[in-house]
Amino acid sequence: MLNRYEDAAKKAAEKIRRTAVSAAQSDLIPYKSENGQWIASPYEGNGWWTGGFWPGLMWQCYAATKDSFFLEEARRVEKLLVDEFRVFRALSHDVGFMYLLSCGADAKITGNEEALWDTLHAASLLMGRFNPAGYLRAWNGGNQAGFVIIDCMMNLSLLFWASRQTGDPRFAKVAKIHADTALREFLRPNGSVSHIIEFDPETGKRVREHAGQGCALGSQWSRGQAWGLYGFALAYLNTKDARYLDAAEKIAANFMAHIRPDGLTDCDFCQPDTEERIDNIAGAIAACGLLELYKITERTPYRASALRLVDAMLQLCCDWTENHCGLLTKCTASYHDDGAGRHTNIVYGDYFLMEALAKLNGTDPMLWL
Ligand code: GLY
Repeated sequence: MLNRYEDAAKKAAEKIRRTAVSAAQSDLIPYKSENGQWIASPYEGNGWWTGGFWPGLMWQCYAATKDSFFLEEARRVEKLLVDEFRVFRALSHDVGFMYLLSCGADAKITGNEEALWDTLHAASLLMGRFNPAGYLRAWNGGNQAGFVIIDCMMNLSLLFWASRQTGDPRFAKVAKIHADTALREFLRPNGSVSHIIEFDPETGKRVREHAGQGCALGSQWSRGQAWGLYGFALAYLNTKDARYLDAAEKIAANFMAHIRPDGLTDCDFCQPDTEERIDNIAGAIAACGLLELYKITERTPYRASALRLVDAMLQLCCDWTENHCGLLTKCTASYHDDGAGRHTNIVYGDYFLMEALAKLNGTDPMLWL
């Protein structure tokens, strides 16, 4: 008999397989579900930072089921993403998210050599964002040469991976410089992390913090907390540097203290008590990070908190209707997003929920390493 996580993963893969057919027919990369249909990103099209999560979801389903439908669908989107190498303007530090979960996953799971070279290409693009003043630049905007965001901790895995593949330490050295800057500048004494820090691009000195997708300056945007938690855990797995593990554990302690009584995750841990603004993506990412921390430390509260988050999402916020696209509900793109980005389904929520289930079921191919 299947346990509840195996049962959920099976049902989810069946639903995703059914609804993936429409994405393939329209040749789009799903960004979110709207009126029950997959829609592409309204922002930069296939160059938007989220493009890797759909192929990542396909690879998770493929690893769990061995159904070649998922492999083919992942490769359909991998081709679209490789075409985006030519749209340089749109690409940001998020090439980690985009290409580790697409080409990188293909190379890892099937040994596809072309996919491996494409992943190295992405790693080189990320290297091109390095400012020797001490950080990887986040975005391309004219006044954003000094902008760094906590989310980038996840993208560092692409660089660590590239050093392992090539035997060339440059990639890992750059990743470590960035991680050390993040450790020094983003981690606050209470275990929370800032979302955006702006540096002087000439000197590397901190200029100011920006609220970013959080509710206010100095607040705790929950997805940023989750990126920090999982990102520092990955930095530890990539380097075995205990300072990164310590950071991940501090961020985890703060995150666990803020899980809502119903097990869901507020969009910002500093938002007004009266406000119902949930971001389950943050909970799903944090569950993945907590399960990795449990594997590293064997401390049971990490696993217990991950289960609390996953159980709440499965019980309260999954759309199991058969042909309605999208799985995880009450995802919120950004705290100030009161329109289509609030309490909706967004594809990276589905990805991280499936990754968390895969970790619990022993099928996770661990696409970040
Ligand atoms: N990396 C951008 C976000 O989490 O919304």
